[in-house]
Amino acid sequence: MAIAEAIEAVIARIDERRLWERHRAIAQFGATGRGGVNRQALTPEDIAARKQLLAWADARRFATSVDAIGNLFIRRPGRDQFATPIAAGSHLDTQPTGGNFDGVYGVLAAFEVLEAAEEAGIATTRPIETVVWTNEEGSRFQPGTMGSAVYAGRLPLDATLKIVDGRGIMLRDALSETLAAMGVTAHRELRAPIGAYLEAHIEQGPILEAERKQIGVVTGIQGLKWMRVDIVGEEAHAGTTPRSARRDACAAAIEMIAALRELTRDRDDILRFTVGRFELSPNSPNTIPGRALFTIDLRHPDRELLVSLGSKIESLCRMHAGGCAVSVIETLDSAPVGFDPAMVAIVRCAAERQKLPWMEILSGATHDAKFIAELCPTAMIFIPCKRGISHNETESATPTDLAAGARVLAEAMLSLASLSGMLPHERST
Ligand code: GLV
Ligand code: MN
Ligand code: MN
Repeated sequence: MAIAEAIEAVIARIDERRLWERHRAIAQFGATGRGGVNRQALTPEDIAARKQLLAWADARRFATSVDAIGNLFIRRPGRDQFATPIAAGSHLDTQPTGGNFDGVYGVLAAFEVLEAAEEAGIATTRPIETVVWTNEEGSRFQPGTMGSAVYAGRLPLDATLKIVDGRGIMLRDALSETLAAMGVTAHRELRAPIGAYLEAHIEQGPILEAERKQIGVVTGIQGLKWMRVDIVGEEAHAGTTPRSARRDACAAAIEMIAALRELTRDRDDILRFTVGRFELSPNSPNTIPGRALFTIDLRHPDRELLVSLGSKIESLCRMHAGGCAVSVIETLDSAPVGFDPAMVAIVRCAAERQKLPWMEILSGATHDAKFIAELCPTAMIFIPCKRGISHNETESATPTDLAAGARVLAEAMLSLASLSGMLPHERST
């Protein structure tokens, strides 16, 4: 069968209803009862979602493997078993009050392509794969995009395994439980070569909806820094301790955050500054907090600006410490990424050829694609989500848009999977 014919056959098998039903099925795991999910990384809910996907993969007899950080790979073989795979995926973990599409869509769209190829009975030259990256969200264990960062060699595995969650559970232990429950025996090496990587995702912003475009051809991802600020003061009685004698960790944190909000004020509203976690200890109404912790999420498309702002944070916090001790730790630093122009062109051509309204777009959210782009040519496909709302239980996308993105993904994956031998970037390394 000619390549163009095979691509058409696979696109025709992308099943909008099945893709929608699969989203509904995964949405059961961690359902909050308010329309959203709490399926944080390596929890029983995450395990249940992974097992459901594995059951679908087993039903198709696709090969499965896991790596040392729990990333899951589902493979439909190609004619050339030595060729590097064309992979696509995202994540199944969510925020504590997450929606039903962030991450899940990229996994299910990729799996839909594997199933559609199977049903169309076509053979590809290269293997095609669905990937589930571990702990993209970073809500339970920090940092996020952990699985892809470890896979790409940007986070050391040993140190990552020792990270603990808010209840003192070590990642190593949560991961062992997850791996035991999944029962996947084949092992994938970290950094094992990937021919090319694609990730489909809801936009998580309002642009596609406002511009009435169904497909976002993603050109890159803005830069991101995460920091954790720990403040140690002194616990004391709320009723008896004069202000002059206090070392109030909460008061210091508030001063620091106010100063940081000033530092990051941006007339153009491009810079993003968020304090998403704020914790006090002992968290009692009548004890002056002896400890405070808050997190910083800082994003901008310009690397230099991000580095320059990042370097000012620690001294600014110290200036507002009010007699408390303060430590500032950077937990994630990812530079802005521009995706491979040839990959971006493949996505753009697929959208164009399928006569879908598309536009180029830069991703405000971060994604596993950011780290995988360091290993192989990478690009992303966005579809609209209602009012651009995400990291929210009301997150919503339409079955039609989900299927449209999956058809673009199918065309991009299949055309790449038809390439034989070594890919250009593999020849130069
Ligand atoms: C991913 O969810 C992000 O924080 O951008
Ligand atoms: Mn996501
Ligand atoms: Mn997310």
